[in-house]
Amino acid sequence: MDESKRKAGEAVAQVDAEPRVATSRVPGFYDLSLEERVEKLTALAGLSREEADLLLGESASLPLETANQMIENAVGVLSLPLGVGLNFRINGRDVLVPMAIEEPSVVAAVSFAAKIARAGGGFTAECDPSHMIAQVQVTDYGDAKLAKEKLLAHKEQILALANSFHPQMVRRGGGAVDIEVRVLPAPEGPKGEPIFVLHVVLDTQDAMGANLINTVAEGVAPMVEQITGGRVYLRILSNLADRRLARAMCRIPVEALADFGMDGQTVAEGIVQASRFAEADPYRACTHNKGVMNGVDAMAIATGNDWRAIEAGAHAFAARNGRYEPLSTWRIEENAGAKYLVGRIELPLAVGTVGGPIRIHPAVQLAYKLLKIEGARELAAVMAAVGLSQNLAALRALGSVGIQRGHMALHARCVAVTAGARGEMVAQIADKLIALGAAHVKLEKARELLAQVEAGS
Ligand code: MEV
Repeated sequence: MDESKRKAGEAVAQVDAEPRVATSRVPGFYDLSLEERVEKLTALAGLSREEADLLLGESASLPLETANQMIENAVGVLSLPLGVGLNFRINGRDVLVPMAIEEPSVVAAVSFAAKIARAGGGFTAECDPSHMIAQVQVTDYGDAKLAKEKLLAHKEQILALANSFHPQMVRRGGGAVDIEVRVLPAPEGPKGEPIFVLHVVLDTQDAMGANLINTVAEGVAPMVEQITGGRVYLRILSNLADRRLARAMCRIPVEALADFGMDGQTVAEGIVQASRFAEADPYRACTHNKGVMNGVDAMAIATGNDWRAIEAGAHAFAARNGRYEPLSTWRIEENAGAKYLVGRIELPLAVGTVGGPIRIHPAVQLAYKLLKIEGARELAAVMAAVGLSQNLAALRALGSVGIQRGHMALHARCVAVTAGARGEMVAQIADKLIALGAAHVKLEKARELLAQVEAGS
């Protein structure tokens, strides 16, 4: 992580910000029925009766008609569970985190880790301005140095043309802010024409910005051809949004990590070992980052963002130093004689809170009602904190007792439900399955146990 930026990230927001939700700490939330959870959430986030009913009814899913307008060959809609990540305190404020995900354990784990992080005041997080890159590839440009000079000399004209396509964005304080030219070695070696690329850097404000950027890339192309005398091929945004980095950190007193019959120092050391492993080995870094993205993607889906773009950007960024690296790191640091586990994350997050076809989705709109954030940069900051918390949850388990124990409990509940168990019977069957051992957490066994319980044996 860039040292100056890390310092900036750490400096922000220790302030006690004005609360937007009463609290994100809801002990026992997991044990409530789904209806009771919605009631609780309604009170916490100030939802209306209609919104609460929307969550409980079928109407929170995308209407078929809308789906049909959104993509080609539509034949239906596919739903995912929507959960709430709890216990988050970010920049001095409690935040309720909407997460759409099919994987058991993710929401429970992120909430548990956020609770641990609260012992150190929660997370601080921030995001850079929403600067994105439009790429314009030029060929047949002749002398690369000369072509580059010519383009840079016409910077003002190129920016003016770029900004003419989106006057509203400019009025909102965004728009094209800079150009740069990159000349890259030809893939064929010295015999080939070097790859010549113009970047137009655009501030997309609260939009992810893909459409806007692509319009600009295509719009400035004729001028680029005129200036260079070359021929333009590709005109498209870059998903490596490395001007739009989000950062989060947390500093947890090691005692707060004590668990599994281990003291806090031992658990913290396991987390540091996991971090060191990922820093040294791309095979591990990939899985480490998958854990980070469990949280980021679940939020991206719940907030109607393009998770493929986020994924592509995150992994390209992870490989920016020529080797695939973890997006987050953990170390034990000492301060005034006390020991802290310190986690840091930095990743590109090209997210929007406006625009995008999925924003019309009723459940996505509800997700924003829960989040109560003020724009794309704040959304990205929250996502970074959620990614770090998700990573903490995984490393805490991996560096100590392993993850199967926690996973198995939720998996067993899923199997019990699939076998037909309902209500209190779900936990009963799940407990019986777990007691038999991991190898017995299977549908057939669950059906057998259910039949036994129902027969009163
Ligand atoms: C599983 O979805 C994610 C983990 O594999 C992440 C990790 O290994 O750090 C548990």
